[in-house]
Order: sequence, then C-alpha cells, then structure tokens
Amino acid sequence: MRKGRFNEQAAEVAQRYSESVSFDWRLYPYDIAGSIAHAAALGQAGILTADERKKIDNGLREIEAEIESGKFEWDQSLEDMHMNIEAALTKRIGAAGAKLHTARSRNDQVALDLRLYVKAEIAELSAGLRSLQTALLDLAEQHVDVVMPGYTHLQRAQPVFLAHYLLAQIEAFGRDAERLRDCNARTDVLPLGSGALAGSTIALDRERIAQQLGFARVSQNSLDAVGDRDFVCEFLFCLAMIGMHLSRLSEDLITWSTYEFGFVEFSDAFSNGSSLMPQKKNPDMAELTRGKTGRLYGNFLSILTTLKALRSSYNRDMQEDKEALFDSVDTVRAALEVFSAMLPKIEINRSRMEAAASDANLLATDLAEYLVKKGTPFREAHEIVGKLVAHAAKTKSPLNQIPIAKLKKASPLFDIDVANVFDVRRSLAARTAIGAPAPGNVAAQIARWHKLLD
Ligand code: ARG
Repeated sequence: MRKGRFNEQAAEVAQRYSESVSFDWRLYPYDIAGSIAHAAALGQAGILTADERKKIDNGLREIEAEIESGKFEWDQSLEDMHMNIEAALTKRIGAAGAKLHTARSRNDQVALDLRLYVKAEIAELSAGLRSLQTALLDLAEQHVDVVMPGYTHLQRAQPVFLAHYLLAQIEAFGRDAERLRDCNARTDVLPLGSGALAGSTIALDRERIAQQLGFARVSQNSLDAVGDRDFVCEFLFCLAMIGMHLSRLSEDLITWSTYEFGFVEFSDAFSNGSSLMPQKKNPDMAELTRGKTGRLYGNFLSILTTLKALRSSYNRDMQEDKEALFDSVDTVRAALEVFSAMLPKIEINRSRMEAAASDANLLATDLAEYLVKKGTPFREAHEIVGKLVAHAAKTKSPLNQIPIAKLKKASPLFDIDVANVFDVRRSLAARTAIGAPAPGNVAAQIARWHKLLD
C-alpha cells in the first residue's frame, strides 16, 4: 500500500499505534466470504478470468483454514486483517491476488465485514435470549403456585405469584429479542461496491453480490454506506439494554438471596466464598453481571461519542468501533450463558416467600376495594383503611385481627364477610384482567411463551 506514494516506511511507533489486526483478525470469516463474492462480481465484469477467480477462491479457502487452525501468522506491519489476508493471498497465487482489490476499498470492505459480523451475532444473541427465557419459563412452571409479596420501592405492596414475576422478566427479554430483530433489518444492507466513497468506474452488479452474501438490500448511497455506523450504535444500545435487564434481575436475586429475605439460594456451583470469612456464600455471578452492565453502557457511549463530530464518509476514527463492539458482544453472550445455566439450579424457598406473603397488610388495597364494591368512593375507602392500618401498627396486631366491632366503627359497611378479604389466593384469583396475576392468566401466559419459544 505504501510502495507508490511514500518514500519512507511508517515509523514503528506509528505502526503500533494504528494497527488493528490485533483485534480485527476475528472478522476474517466475513472478510473472506466478502472477497469471494467480490471476485465473482469482478469475474462477471470481465476483470478476472475464470482461472484467476478459481485461484482466488482456493487461495482464500486455504488461508481461512490456516487461520482456523491457528497456523496463520498475522503481521502487525500490514496494519489490519484485510491487508494481511490480501498479502497472504498474493504471496500464494501471485498476480491474480493483486487484482482482487479492484473496485474496492477497505472502507466498503470493513463496513461489509462489520455488517456480516453484527448479523451473525444477532442470530447468536437471539438464541442466547431464547435459552434464558426458557430457563425462566421452566422455573415459572415448576413453581407455578408459589405466592410471594410483590414489591414497589422495595416495600411489600401486593401479593403475586413467583411465576408472575418470572414472566415479567420473560417479557423484558422478549422485547430485547424484538429490538435485535429490528436492528437486524437495518444492518441487513450490503455496503460493498461503494468503494472508498464514490463507487468505481468499474461498475459491479451489486444486487448479485447482495444475493450471494445473503443481504436483503443494497445501500443506495456510497458516501453514506462507508460512513454509516448507525447499525453499530443501535446494536450496542440493544446490548446495553439486555445488560440493564440482566442487571435488574441480578439485583432482585441478590436481594432475595440475603439472609434477611431468604427467598432464594444460589447453587454452590454459581456462588463464591470469601477468602477471609468462612461462612460467606456470595452471589458473584449476579454481582458481576450488574457490574459488567457499566461496561456495556460505556461501549455504547464510546461509539456515539466517536461518531459525533466526524465529517461525512469514512474517517480513521471509525476503527475505534471494533473493540467496543467485540467487548459488548462477548460480555452479553457470556452473561446469557451464565444465567441460562445458573437459573435452573437456583433454589426457591417456598415457605419463606409464602410466610412473607401472608402479611395481612398486602391486602389493605383489597380491603378498600371491599368497601368500594359496597358503594364507598375509593378515596374515602383509602382513608378508612389507612387509618385501620395505622391502628393495627400502633396496637402491634395484624390488620386481619381487628375486631368486627372496631371495623364497623370505621365504616358501617364492614360485615362478617370481610374475613374473606384476607385470603391471599382468593385475592389473586380475583385479579383476572389482562396482564393481572390470576392463576388462569399466569397459566395462559406460560402456555403463550411456550408456543413462542418452542
Ligand atoms: N482498519 C480500518 C478500520 O477498521 C480499515 C479501513 C481502513 N481504511 C483506510 N482508509 N485507512 O476502519
């Protein structure tokens, strides 16, 4: 690349500063697939003979096998993976290799490789999300009738089924999968053929290249195609969002695994000890996931910031997209794998959950609704019950132990049937609106997700 224009080798320190092969080498399968498709288009355009094309295809396949087996020697002085592969090809097959870069720039080449990579990773991550959702669904099914307190502000609020909680997680990860599908639609666009920024005087059949590489569409503006990293930003946002959901799930599980809650216990295989305190059993997997989410946010912000003041088309700054991208992909893939393996082994402490859910205060709203059903305006009922709750707290007796005479003084509409209110399962059974945790609804949601995930 420097042979023509330059009189001097790049300074070693400059080489080291600008090389990307130490991290972009992992894009090689996409680079090779792209080069094979490009060579086919060059053949069609009369630039390569059938024999030259065959040499290129075979040479690239051999190089690919060599990389896979770990025998390929990457040379940092060749800057990036693209130049390494091209140089190895030319060394191997001679003149034909030197023709391959006709009507192509590394600008459209790297955009192509990245899009192919993101598409492949979206497929992998979608499968990872499905495994996680399946693990959550299995837990929900196994513990379908376990009742627990639902919380807002980390204060006991109203009873729910544990399965309802688990289905809530499945919903969030379902949106993440949807977001990945949306992102895929905008990533699935062929940039190759855009050249450095303005295409080439050798016009290639880009529709055909797209078909060969499995792209749904062809980019319509060469300037835009080489400078567009929107799909990387969008993908990194999707990954940050998955991290955020995993982090919130982690936070719940960390809280529930404390001695104070005792709702769940992580299996030994997914817990860590303390180097000092012999009794400790720490939820390190969940904590690390919460921690790694910060990295995912950082990666997302780093690409946004890198792009913010870039002039149109390609600028070398864009090389900085890759490490953030790879790091987020690796991080989320690992987290999904850990959670999918960890959740089936988590122990659910039914008696602790149900003891906590038997707190009569969880049904204070039901008590107000009891009065509403007898004609009391809700605001009034809210106040009456609020006073009863305060009274119960002051006398240190539960809300459901207040004598009927005392209740009648608070509102003449209270009657002996009020005892029915303080039945948690009865309360849950009444919550039948769409989305609410009646047992029938929970069962229907489990069936719905089974159908979606199987
Ligand atoms: N390594 C570069 C990148 O990752 C490839 C493109 C280089 N293009 C250029 N004109 N220097 O972005």
